[in-house]
Amino acid sequence: MRSLRVLITSGPTREPLDPVRFISNRSSGKMGHALVEAARTAGHRVTLVSGPVALPPPRSVALQEVETAEEMRRAVMKAASRADVIIMAAAVADYRPLVKARSKIKKRAAEMLLRLQKTPDILAELGRRKRPGQILVGFAAETENLRRHAARKLKAKNLDYLVANRVGRKDSGFDSDHNRAFLLARDGGTRSFPLMSKTLLAKKLIALICPK
Ligand code: PMT
Repeated sequence: MRSLRVLITSGPTREPLDPVRFISNRSSGKMGHALVEAARTAGHRVTLVSGPVALPPPRSVALQEVETAEEMRRAVMKAASRADVIIMAAAVADYRPLVKARSKIKKRAAEMLLRLQKTPDILAELGRRKRPGQILVGFAAETENLRRHAARKLKAKNLDYLVANRVGRKDSGFDSDHNRAFLLARDGGTRSFPLMSKTLLAKKLIALICPK
């Protein structure tokens, strides 16, 4: 079996509002870290770019810890040119506060408006820069219409695979040790994964995604 250079992102990003507050996405990092472990045990060389998670750092991988979407973008772009396979399992925040206050925002009015701006779409940039032979995999956290959203994201972001997982249920998706997913390949091939541990799902995904 070939040993590939696999770049994986995991966990959420945090977009600061002031020195004590941030906006973020739900993500424990369990899915991303399970993929790291599966790729590592399959003999691949793994680089992990991880947002803030409460999990122990995985063994024997190059780890880059980041906080914001912009930091994740920089770390991913730096490692991407050397990667054979890139898997974006991180729950990157789509928006960040337009302004980051230097000191703690004081509680005054009963209501306040927060102006947000889009964060960089890391996966879309990877899709534009993809070199021949490189395999690019996105995840999609969806509450409905998994297949339709999967097809749209796969095409729009020039992906080779899109793993759509249903979120909003207690027994899978965010935080849980289990997940259920639907895999869509560029050639139109599909595969459904019923509820199973993230460890097992990660093993199955790595076996499918990483060419022998
Ligand atoms: O961490 P866990 O608790 O185990 O939960 C796992 C998970 C549900 C977070 C994970 O399996 C998952 O679905 N991750 C992707 C979540 C997500 O951000 O989905 P999305 O549909 O918003 O984004 C689509 C893709 O674009 C993702 O690959 C994401 O990494 C990427 N993206 C999104 C926004 C952005 N600004 N840049 C990106 O690269």
